[in-house]
Amino acid sequence: MHIKGSTALVTGGASGLGLATARGIVDRGGRVVLADISEELGAKAVADLGDAARFVRADVTDEQAVAEAVDAAGPLRFVVHCAGRGGDRTRILDKNGAPGDLGTFTEVIRVNLIGTYNVLRLAASKIAENETLDDGDRGAIVLTASVAAFDGQIGQTSYTASKAGVHGMTLVAARDLASRQIRVNTIAPGIMDTPMLGRLREDIREGLAATVPHPKRLGDPEDYARLALEMLENSYLNGQTVRLDGAIRMAPR
Ligand SMILES: NC(=O)c1ccc[n+]([C@@H]2O[C@H](COP(=O)([O-])OP(=O)(O)OC[C@H]3O[C@@H](n4cnc5c(N)ncnc54)[C@H](O)[C@@H]3O)[C@@H](O)[C@H]2O)c1
Repeated sequence: MHIKGSTALVTGGASGLGLATARGIVDRGGRVVLADISEELGAKAVADLGDAARFVRADVTDEQAVAEAVDAAGPLRFVVHCAGRGGDRTRILDKNGAPGDLGTFTEVIRVNLIGTYNVLRLAASKIAENETLDDGDRGAIVLTASVAAFDGQIGQTSYTASKAGVHGMTLVAARDLASRQIRVNTIAPGIMDTPMLGRLREDIREGLAATVPHPKRLGDPEDYARLALEMLENSYLNGQTVRLDGAIRMAPR
């Protein structure tokens, strides 16, 4: 499947990994609908990407808003789902032995896991309307997990559970949507240099970069975009979660 001439829905497309992927799609002659909660960043992104991009304000947990974003794409071939939030940094027991808060745990699961399923189901229903192309595909979907799905750190129970859920649904989704000729793959990024991380102090960022075996740097959103584009175009890649992390394995804390 070729990106040129096709339309992709990019959730979280106004910033970071989503924005870099949207740029890659536009550079290859595709069109993008950016679905994001930030109107300010969305307007900036569209000004940057030009006529091949449009912005739809949508919270990925909102059924109606995601349905509208999917419809805004017209014939939809691709989805790259990047919208998500960080964890709540809550220990299971705090230092006085009090149990962690259930509300924040639920909220992280709601945005990262339920939001992913919402986008997956609504976008798949639209992609299923396409004719198949020469390679037999009707479309392809890329989801975003995290290395925390595999080596979650102390305080990351909610984030890890949400991202392990995304990894877990990848093979199921690929099997389930195989009869509709829709492929589903997931990227599990390591420590990527996006605005989500930009809030950290420079010395902390340098410390994180030093923990990456090779290359000794934070991941570039461009690294993510290249892999996402390959997952969209490569018709034999299906049901797979790929770690994109410079071989990092996160320590317990
Ligand atoms: N940056 C990293 O190191 C890293 C590592 C592993 C996984 N990830 C994952 O990658 C994805 C993208 O993160 P990023 O680093 O590009 O962050 P980012 O903050 O640069 O971009 C995330 C975008 O998602 C949007 N968003 C947040 N909640 C949303 C919602 N409910 N509905 C619609 N849009 C929403 C934000 O407005 C923002 O534009 C996230 O799922 C994150 O968990 C990031």
